[in-house]
Parts: sequence; C-alpha cells; structure tokens
Amino acid sequence: MDPDGYLLRFAEDLREKECPRYISSCILKEFKLKNGQTLVLRKPIVEDAKMIVEYLYTVGGESDNLLFGKDESYFTAEMEIEHIKNINESETSSMVLGIINNNIVSIAQISSPNRKRIAHNSEVAISVKKDYWKNGIGSCIMEELIKSVKDGGIIKNISLGVKASNKNAIAMYEKFGFEKIGKHKDFFNINGDFDDEILMDLYI
Ligand SMILES: CC(C)(COP(=O)(O)OP(=O)(O)OC[C@H]1O[C@@H](n2cnc3c(N)ncnc32)[C@H](O)[C@@H]1OP(=O)(O)O)[C@@H](O)C(=O)NCCC(=O)NCCS
Repeated sequence: MDPDGYLLRFAEDLREKECPRYISSCILKEFKLKNGQTLVLRKPIVEDAKMIVEYLYTVGGESDNLLFGKDESYFTAEMEIEHIKNINESETSSMVLGIINNNIVSIAQISSPNRKRIAHNSEVAISVKKDYWKNGIGSCIMEELIKSVKDGGIIKNISLGVKASNKNAIAMYEKFGFEKIGKHKDFFNINGDFDDEILMDLYI
C-alpha cells in the first residue's frame, strides 16, 4: 500500500531523472509506422505503473471488445508495480509496451501457467489506443510476441478468446496463423447484449 502516494511520486521523480539510460536497456525494437511515426517496443519498468493504469482505464472505454469497460479496470498502480516485477522475472510470461513520443499506445501480454504439466501453453492479450488503430501497431507487437515465444523455445501453443463481433481483431489473429478452435456461447454480456467468445490457437 502507498496511502500518501509516496511510492508513486518517488517513481515519477525517478522516471524523469534516471530513466533514459535504464529505459534504453529495455527496448526490444523500433519501428517506422505507416503514418511516419516511430513506435518503440519495450519491456515495462515499475516506473511505468501509473501510466499503464491510466492506459487501461482509457482503452477500456474506447471499445466493447475488452474484458473491462470504462473505469472497470480494477488494477491500481501498486498492483501494477507487483505485476511488472513478477512478469519481468518470468521465463515464459512477458509484457510489451508500444510507445510513441513517450506515451503508451499499446500493451500486449503473453502469460503462461506455472504448473509444469501445462507451462508450454500461453494466452495472449493485446490492445491499441483507438487514435492509433490501423497503423500497423497491433501487427508489429504481435510479431514481436510470437518471435519472443519462438526464441524462448518453451511455449508450444498461444491461445486467446475474442468477441465474435470483433472482426478486426479476428482478421489480425488469422493473419498471424491463429485458427478458430471453438467458442463459448454468450460469453460476453455488454450491458445486456450477449455475444459469443471465439477461441483461437496458434501452434508454435
Ligand atoms: C484489434 C487491435 C489490437 C488491432 O490493432 P491495430 O493496431 O489496429 O492493428 P493493425 O493496424 O496492425 O492491423 C492488423 C490487422 O487487423 C485487421 N484489421 C485491423 N483493423 C481493421 C479494419 N478496420 N478492417 C479490417 N481489418 C482490420 C487486418 O487484418 C490488419 O492487417 P492488415 O493491415 O495487414 O490488413 C485494435 O483494433 C484494438 O486494440 N482493438 C480494441 C481492443 C481489442 O479488440 N483487443 C483484442 C481483444 S481479443
């Protein structure tokens, strides 16, 4: 807990003073987008926690395609700090941030279970800020995640669930070789409107 916001103020201060060097060691890739802007893909650092929470609140309100709506992301900055520490220590789970002009415009995550018998399976989650859709960011970050999974050599299957009406995302996943393997009927309830969840797998 950080009742007086001390930890967060400290983290923000550190971000301004110390981060440039530290951040550069987390960069995975730089990519020129269709609109000419430079997208930086990098691993998260704990100093990103507040920005990540703000990002999740924003994207939750921008479409009905995520598991949470506007102001429904329950993550606090303190929880996010713990999450970042854990994921950066994991061999099979990873988070990638997409950054343009020092702002987070996309987040994607691959998570694997700890249990040895099923640790070769994983789930992917991805979002891009609406203002930046259709610029190649989703594709760039998916490509990086799939590459990291292949390089890691442990994960054999990437799974995901997507709302049946989310045609853009389904098209993106199919572009990367994901196959539809089933569905959960009426899995989503968006203010009384039900929709199926399409289950998709990519076998590595
Ligand atoms: C789905 C999402 C991540 C795509 O991100 P993006 O940065 O717009 O993706 P890209 O520009 O790289 O496009 C990737 C592919 O998606 C498909 N696609 C994206 N937008 C599309 C559109 N408006 N019409 C048709 N296909 C579309 C295409 O196959 C495209 O590949 P192409 O450009 O080579 O044709 C983004 O729309 C998003 O965050 N949506 C809200 C959250 C969400 O749905 N997350 C997924 C939950 S399962």
